[in-house]
Amino acid sequence: MAPKTYILAIDQGTTSTRAMIFDKAGSVVAVDQVEHEQIFPKAGWVEHDPIEIWENTRKVIGGALAKANLNSKNIAGIGITNQRETAVVWDKSNGQPVYNAIVWQDTRTQKIVDELAGDDGTDKYKAKVGLPLATYFSGPKVKWILDNVDGAREKAEKGELLFGNTDTWVLWNLTGGAENDGVHVTDVTNASRTMLMDLSTLQWDESIAADMGIPMSMLPEIKSSSEVYGEAKPGVLNGTPVAGILGDQQAATFGQACLEKGMAKNTYGTGNFMLLNTGEEQVPSENGLLTTVCYKIGDNAPVYALEGSIAVTGSLVQWVRDNLGLIGSAPEIEKLALSVEDNGGTYFVPAFSGLFAPHWRSDARGALVGMTRYVNKGHIARAVLEATAFQTREVLDAMNADSGVPLTELKVDGGMVVNETLMQFQADLLGVDVVRPKVAETTALGAAYAAGLAVGYWESEQDIIDNWVEDKRWTPQMDEDERERLYRNWKKAVSKTLDWVD
Ligand code: G3P
Repeated sequence: MAPKTYILAIDQGTTSTRAMIFDKAGSVVAVDQVEHEQIFPKAGWVEHDPIEIWENTRKVIGGALAKANLNSKNIAGIGITNQRETAVVWDKSNGQPVYNAIVWQDTRTQKIVDELAGDDGTDKYKAKVGLPLATYFSGPKVKWILDNVDGAREKAEKGELLFGNTDTWVLWNLTGGAENDGVHVTDVTNASRTMLMDLSTLQWDESIAADMGIPMSMLPEIKSSSEVYGEAKPGVLNGTPVAGILGDQQAATFGQACLEKGMAKNTYGTGNFMLLNTGEEQVPSENGLLTTVCYKIGDNAPVYALEGSIAVTGSLVQWVRDNLGLIGSAPEIEKLALSVEDNGGTYFVPAFSGLFAPHWRSDARGALVGMTRYVNKGHIARAVLEATAFQTREVLDAMNADSGVPLTELKVDGGMVVNETLMQFQADLLGVDVVRPKVAETTALGAAYAAGLAVGYWESEQDIIDNWVEDKRWTPQMDEDERERLYRNWKKAVSKTLDWVD
């Protein structure tokens, strides 16, 4: 009898790397997860060690297989999903990164971004790439590495260095690395986060790469999100096809079965990312959203999305835990928030990486405002949680304005959706239902689906739709006046965070 098979997804996220094994019903069979170090060399700088990330990837693959008592014969395909925009540059002769990975949250490229914008402004490349010039995206980070690491530019110009977001870094290593001719490929969704890919041709734009001084030879080949890129070798999955890549937010959209135009999801991770499927149409945003590739399945036409990216949501809870010590573990924030009735007039705008959507203000910095002597740590915990919901409201308003069709419900996923207090407040503040699926691990699941479709494990997108099951729904309970009063105060708080960086 042939062995029972599964799909393994690697989720290389901002704070950890996970391997998850899924069965045909889209249920989780096993998970293994390892966190990696967050390196903050200076204010505004955030780095990861790419070698640590690759070692963790190997560990969690082995860990998940061991937990499920499976081996490579049981794995029909591997999918990769990843923190997007985080840039790794490495030497292809030995696989050594020339610098740490510069993480998507890092703001060191502000000067580069300003110079690139020049008199044309931050929308200089927007018509082509769907993105405003901002420190968030990978292209300026690569330029920073080439400008600042001794000898890097010369090596890059000689064709000796490779660039990738962490999908490409993991794929190259997984498929053999320096010794076994690793595959240097990315998918359209990750490429759409570099500022270097033309959204219409789905190819690198040579003139933008030239503006950033990035040699074309460093760039990975752009492929669809669902096809066989190569085989894992050597290692425990030797010979298994790697067949799906989706940036983590696009993966969550796919895993949430938002496969039709007009469907949207919001993921509550380190940051929050709301994506609205706009079908085969690229919708340019007039309200501070990004136009991005949602997915491309094999030879099918690409599907696009509008995205509202928020840099700091879950990571604010971690900051409260690690930097303030107000709580011992992240889930404790809910209990602390419930120790008071409301926010006591306090608002926390966590503009730690400037403000992303819909503001795109890299000069913003965090602020805790509205406090009186009455305020205690419970109120601060509440303001921390509410910050996630308020930022989501800003993005939803922008989404509704851009699409012209108000969303009637929001599918949610990610770590924070176990927080019932937050989910109820979110529904209250948006005035629409908030819906959580049974499998909340939609990011890894989305990557598994992309890989599984390519290798014939799942037959069609209908399987994804059939597997999606509602778990819980929160319905708005707050009255309109109160909702708008709170939101007005939030906007006032946001205005206090601007113009902090000269
Ligand atoms: O754009 C950044 C995003 O991909 C990171 O997601 O879940 O790792 O915080 P996450």
